[in-house]
Amino acid sequence: MTAQTANQTAPAGAPAYLSVNNVEVIYDHVILVLKGVSLEVPEGKIVALLGANGAGKSTTLKSISTLLKGERGEVTKGSIAFRGERVDQLTPNELVKKGMVQVMEGRHCFGHLTVEENLLTGAYTRSISRADLKESLERVYHYFPRLKTRRTSQSGYTSGGEQQMTAIGRALMARPTMILLDEPSMGLAPQIVEEIFEIVRDLNQREKVSFLLAEQNTMVALRYADFGYILENGRVVMEGDAKELAANEDVKEFYLGLSSGGRKSFRDVKHYRRRKRWLA
Ligand SMILES: Nc1ncnc2c1ncn2[C@@H]1O[C@H](COP(=O)(O)OP(=O)(O)O)[C@@H](O)[C@H]1O
Ligand SMILES: [Mg+2]
Repeated sequence: MTAQTANQTAPAGAPAYLSVNNVEVIYDHVILVLKGVSLEVPEGKIVALLGANGAGKSTTLKSISTLLKGERGEVTKGSIAFRGERVDQLTPNELVKKGMVQVMEGRHCFGHLTVEENLLTGAYTRSISRADLKESLERVYHYFPRLKTRRTSQSGYTSGGEQQMTAIGRALMARPTMILLDEPSMGLAPQIVEEIFEIVRDLNQREKVSFLLAEQNTMVALRYADFGYILENGRVVMEGDAKELAANEDVKEFYLGLSSGGRKSFRDVKHYRRRKRWLA
């Protein structure tokens, strides 16, 4: 065991499944986007990462999955640990082998491939038998029966909801224990959003997959999540139990636009509080 790993597992009690500690991210060497983000996902939980467009949700997810490098982004401070081990220096493929997969914002299916071909691309990091591959596919179809009926359709001609399901299904093909899911509700009708979130809950409860879920759709996300963090301008401005956050007057005022003076910043909201755990 390295000194770093020993350090991560030293405190009493189980370490968080995923922990992001005071992470700073800079794009193009100058654009400071994350200003010290800390969050935790306990094993087997759904944690929502909430915030308006541009708050830094996708950047946070990409800093975890090490996909930032392709976008001229860099983690310049802080650390990320998964299952008690530092993972900041791994490649996305190594991370997938450890059990963590990201489903990117905007679905990203290969439009010219069929639904089933798209799903099969998700198993590329595993060297497995045809029988295993078939079993993994059947498992995806079990959770997403719609995809089974559409298996031979070209993805480019399927609906937005089906493409989102294909993207999640493809991630499942890698047999992850943790999924970073970026804005699954984006551009989808409310009924389809519910359908997708029900499947996320199912995967969480039956397959014990942990989720870090980035969403602008605050109230829906909080109905399915156990815990939530609210991100604003690259900082966590509020965190709490999902039910408490959903009932919080400030969250309601801000996200449902109930305030008279228009949409304000969370920083102006009176009861704003933040545990400064990592600033020692
Ligand atoms: N590749 C990039 N280069 C420069 N700035 C970026 C890049 N990606 C995102 N940003 C900026 O970082 C901020 C946060 O973006 P993002 O993480 O995508 O937020 P969210 O997912 O919450 O909408 C935004 O101001 C955005 O313009
Ligand atoms: Mg985003």
